[in-house]
Amino acid sequence: MFFTNALSLFLPISASLVTPITCLAIESISQRDNNPRSSQTQLASGSAIGYGKISNSLSWQASGPLYSGCNLSGVKISDCYQLTLSSVATQNLEDYGSSTPRQRTEFLTASAAAGTTHEYQWSYFLKSPVGTSTHFFHLMQLFSRDDGGPILTLDAINGVIAIKDNYRDCSKTGCPTIPLSTFTDKTTIHTVAVTYGASNGSFKYVITDSATSNVLLSYSASGNMGGNASIKFGTYRLAVSNMKSSVAAVGDFKVLA
Ligand SMILES: *[C@@H]1O[C@H](CO)[C@@H](O)[C@H](O)[C@H]1NC(C)=O
Ligand SMILES: *[C@@H]1O[C@H](CO)[C@@H](O)[C@H](O)[C@H]1NC(C)=O
Ligand SMILES: *[C@@H]1O[C@H](CO)[C@@H](O)[C@H](O)[C@H]1NC(C)=O
Repeated sequence: MFFTNALSLFLPISASLVTPITCLAIESISQRDNNPRSSQTQLASGSAIGYGKISNSLSWQASGPLYSGCNLSGVKISDCYQLTLSSVATQNLEDYGSSTPRQRTEFLTASAAAGTTHEYQWSYFLKSPVGTSTHFFHLMQLFSRDDGGPILTLDAINGVIAIKDNYRDCSKTGCPTIPLSTFTDKTTIHTVAVTYGASNGSFKYVITDSATSNVLLSYSASGNMGGNASIKFGTYRLAVSNMKSSVAAVGDFKVLA
């Protein structure tokens, strides 16, 4: 079975399979911070939703400011993108005028059909303080166009980082929850192995601390994993009052299989 020895899936990586992110240079911004690596290029301004493609495997959509190049201290991501969402619930919206406005800056893998298997990895850094509420704030989604929504998500919600599974009983699958402070202000490495499919799908997600390699969170499940689907990661939330601004860095995306 696909998941009985899932850790071995993450071990042998042929370098030729790794797809590096290539940057889209649009506008260079001179840099006066203390990180000489990080010359920044603005990809999206935050005044309207923007879209772009990084490679055949990865695209982005951004209603908040998005930069190629990161200047946050402590971020260990080479090919780095910086994502900001305003604390103001009427700013950086993807849907101005909606009664349920959302702020969304997400990267997404190429849409893939039921029955296909994929393995992806990216690095992620979420700066504290993170404002959470009872409302959704997705850091990762398995998004199924066949189902018209997410199959499962990684959320910052109610003061914790949690897996939400919309198609299984979390009391049986053991959807994990970790404290926000375990996850924030450090570079985390996210590895997803997924087989999409309405009935025979499977999913394994492991988040490690890049500095220690310690596993911070893992989740495996099988059953409906969607179709015409993508893995999405970044910051996507309902815009509500009393939010905090959200600052994150994402990058070093790889297609492992
Ligand atoms: C750091 O990057 C952000 C974009 O995420 C930018 O708005 C800000 O001006 C940069 N800060 C410095 C000191 O360059
Ligand atoms: C799921 O797997 C079972 C057992 O291998 C097979 O009979 C069935 O056709 C599969 N369903 C789909 C939708 O692929
Ligand atoms: C996948 O979803 C996209 C976007 O909704 C749609 O345009 C496309 O037709 C879908 N493809 C399949 C094979 O269903």
